[in-house]
Amino acid sequence: MQSTGPRQRSTRTPGRPGRSSPAPDANEVLEPRLRRRSIRRPGANAASYACGVSEADTRAARDDEVPAFRGAAHALVDGVADHLAALPSRPVWQPLPDALRSELLDLPLPEHPIALDDVVETALRDVLPYAMGNGHPAFFGWVNPPPSPAGVIASLAAAAMNPSVVAGDHADVHLERAVVRWLAELVGFPHPPGAGLLTSGASAATIVCLAGARGRALTKAGHDVRRDGLAGAPRLVAYVPAEAHSCVQRALELLGLGSGAMRAVPLEDGRLDADALRAAIAADRASGALPALLVGSAGTVNSGAIDPLDALADVAAAEGVWFHVDGAYGAFGVLDPAIAARYRGMDRADSLVLDPHKWLGVPVDAGCALVRRADDLRDAFSLIPPYLRQDTDAAVGTFAEYGPEQTRPFRALKTWATIAARGRAGIAAQVARANALARELAARVEREPELELAAAPVTSIVAFRARPAACPPGTLDELNRALPEAVQARGRAFVTGTVFGGRETLRACILHPDTSSEHLATLVAEVVATARTLALAA
Ligand SMILES: Cc1ncc(COP(=O)(O)O)c(C=O)c1O
Repeated sequence: MQSTGPRQRSTRTPGRPGRSSPAPDANEVLEPRLRRRSIRRPGANAASYACGVSEADTRAARDDEVPAFRGAAHALVDGVADHLAALPSRPVWQPLPDALRSELLDLPLPEHPIALDDVVETALRDVLPYAMGNGHPAFFGWVNPPPSPAGVIASLAAAAMNPSVVAGDHADVHLERAVVRWLAELVGFPHPPGAGLLTSGASAATIVCLAGARGRALTKAGHDVRRDGLAGAPRLVAYVPAEAHSCVQRALELLGLGSGAMRAVPLEDGRLDADALRAAIAADRASGALPALLVGSAGTVNSGAIDPLDALADVAAAEGVWFHVDGAYGAFGVLDPAIAARYRGMDRADSLVLDPHKWLGVPVDAGCALVRRADDLRDAFSLIPPYLRQDTDAAVGTFAEYGPEQTRPFRALKTWATIAARGRAGIAAQVARANALARELAARVEREPELELAAAPVTSIVAFRARPAACPPGTLDELNRALPEAVQARGRAFVTGTVFGGRETLRACILHPDTSSEHLATLVAEVVATARTLALAA
């Protein structure tokens, strides 16, 4: 048996039911509970449950619950608004007071209920003020924006609905389909119906996409990986640039290809040596391996660089391998007319991941996997046991047929709200502004004798290093490694570090819509001052 065609999908059942003990009839399971519910206690007027709570009691509790929710939720919204308003005037980040850290870690499990008002008060007092720092416009760490206000509001409504977004005629399902289409439209990726879904983030989306790549390559080679695993399969090879995010390697490891299946992609200063890549692919084929995947980045995590996607797409097409683009951070950069041309070829990918919870500011979690051919994912994931049958054999399958999650959260409402509240034009303006600020930061770094630029920014990430006059050249790497945390501890700007070009490097990622020239000046001044202090203390 080779691939799982659409008709096989609905008949696949887990655990080969013929061999396992028969599942209990659903009615047998439910009936005793129904019988218990209908027990009448002598003398009781209202129908009551076996646990001794009357329907009248539960109705009263429910009647109390909604006003209590309303009051506490209003207090929460006011507290959250105060928190957001106060953020810019607070330290970007501060360590938790020791006593509070211990208190949080040692919180005893409450035996008795805590009133909602108290829950809100505790959260506002002990949790919100001690955040990661990404709400502040001088936060430049990792790839973490502040949440969009629309997304924060929508998160409350999504939780109030609390659906499992899989299938069925409910609004959340249809909204996810629309939002995935919007995301594809925003970045100019083709979108046949069903060819994408929201995930927890790009790491999960990458696993989804690469499972599609693995399945397609092995099916073509006559191997059924879903039935047989990788035993007896041809050895798959993936061509992955050195600057690709670690989530690609992790996905390859999880999918059983192993990190040993990764080959470097010959990229020099952003240019692809296509002949060398094709020669490497030919050599792998000659050795009996199966070249299956070529990866490119639409915005690397270290420096925001965009790989030559069109040239990579040419090689992938000529060699018949799956082309995957990681646009987790950078795909939305295509909305900036100043750099849109750099993204040529992204629309030719077999799969593209992007993260609405990065540049768009959708509250975590919101990632997205997009594929050119929906059935590549359906073939990899579809498995519908009888107890989950719903909309089977529909032209577009349930969301659970395109990824590993069964119960799925309502990520679409906050994503929809975030995009709707800005519109395409608003998002494009925000992206272009961030890129312009990155160029400004690079210019400031270049003007500062005790700093050096590690790469000219293309998108909104600036990689740079400190070289304080007082620091002996032999210890510069050590100093740059210690620098980010020392800057963070001062509380005025937040930057993180990496290794880039073999050297310890700082990287500032600009995603906050309120970041301004003033915050860039603060970052530069803080890095220079902290580097000097570290150099003198060394
Ligand atoms: C380029 C790139 N790819 C993938 C990821 C992983 O994304 P996530 O953290 O949403 O899983 C990141 C995270 O920063 C990234 O910058």
